[in-house]
Amino acid sequence: MKKILVIGSGGREHALAWAAARSPEVVEVLVAPGNAGTAQEPKVRNVALDPMDFPGLIALVRKEDVSLTIVGPEAPLVAGVVDAFEAEGLPCFGPRAAAAQLEGSKAFTKAFLARHGIPTAAYAVFDALAPAQDYVRAQGVPIVIKADGLAAGKGVVVAMTEQDALAALEQMLGGEEASGAQVVIEAFMAGEEASFIVMADGEDFLAFPTSQDHKRRFDGDEGPNTGGMGAYSPAPVVTSEVEARVLERIVRPTLQGLRQDGIHYRGFLYVGLMIDEAGDPRVVEFNCRFGDPEAQPVLTRVRSDLPSLCEAALEGRLGECTLDVDPAWTVGVVLAMESYPGNYPSGEPISGLDEVANGKVFHAGTRLSAEGTVETQGGRVLCVVGKGSAFEDARAEAYGAIQKITFKSMAYRRDIGHRATS
Ligand code: GLY
Repeated sequence: MKKILVIGSGGREHALAWAAARSPEVVEVLVAPGNAGTAQEPKVRNVALDPMDFPGLIALVRKEDVSLTIVGPEAPLVAGVVDAFEAEGLPCFGPRAAAAQLEGSKAFTKAFLARHGIPTAAYAVFDALAPAQDYVRAQGVPIVIKADGLAAGKGVVVAMTEQDALAALEQMLGGEEASGAQVVIEAFMAGEEASFIVMADGEDFLAFPTSQDHKRRFDGDEGPNTGGMGAYSPAPVVTSEVEARVLERIVRPTLQGLRQDGIHYRGFLYVGLMIDEAGDPRVVEFNCRFGDPEAQPVLTRVRSDLPSLCEAALEGRLGECTLDVDPAWTVGVVLAMESYPGNYPSGEPISGLDEVANGKVFHAGTRLSAEGTVETQGGRVLCVVGKGSAFEDARAEAYGAIQKITFKSMAYRRDIGHRATS
């Protein structure tokens, strides 16, 4: 019997822990540090350790005899948690720091895509304000401004006016605190976005079910970018023809390009796609981990044994594996704090969770109070997933479950999945 460690505390990590705990070969899943949802999940136990405390995590794995660690968030991956585990001979599923640069540095990724002829938007990189402003004035709008480092989904501004573009540049490159900062300025790509996530072992890969995230805060895809306000699976825009193009033009050349560059990519690779009217896909971004909230609806459809797949990837055996996927639709709706992605308070009691009979509630920003009740502790608080044989059934299950749940500042989008029906 196996013991698994999941590193992280968000909705994605609850979904990873829940999926790992379903394995009949798993006796217990530890989550560091986890949230109130993982604390209450059968076979799952939280351990109060920071995801960046690599010596603490390694000591935990030794003490508890953990056979496999799965890393959820990008920050420890970019900082080298897999390298640290490998140096101790401990199996840890995720890309090494060199490979995690695909998310850690947008400038690195754009240069990689250009070098290997992988389709993406034209771009330029700047580390000084004045030339960046000149470039924006010369290119015109709409235009996309991306801060180079990790920004929890908030470092991207799609500027529809020159004023917005210049303001974003001022914020990212102006002032003394921006010293050493870089921005990538990209041509705006028209089309529909989709999330395409694969599990890679350095040579082979398995494509997970497609999904579509809703990054804007408000209905109708309005308002500021967030980490994601909801997601559903599959994404109809990724037809089988589009999927074949994604594999041929993007996924295979990316993994091959990484190998050519001496980078062994083992872990989840999240390809953020823009698909134009002709069905041609281009790369918007890479992430070095599973998407959040995509993990919640996608993993709800995956029937295969997740820890066994991670082990196969670590041993370079993914070529022998297949993915068993439930043909159902899933819709995940994020319940956030009203002021998210701005500042928000913590500690609001959440009620009604026990009344949810249908659908699965994944926790993100939650904690258990001293009395054992569930309260808020983050901007994205919960993700409620509904499942059904038709999109409308999955949607109805998710929104039906939400009617049972309350916290004071609760806010959510009413239109998750709207592109599935339009
Ligand atoms: N949902 C977008 C992301 O995980 O980055």
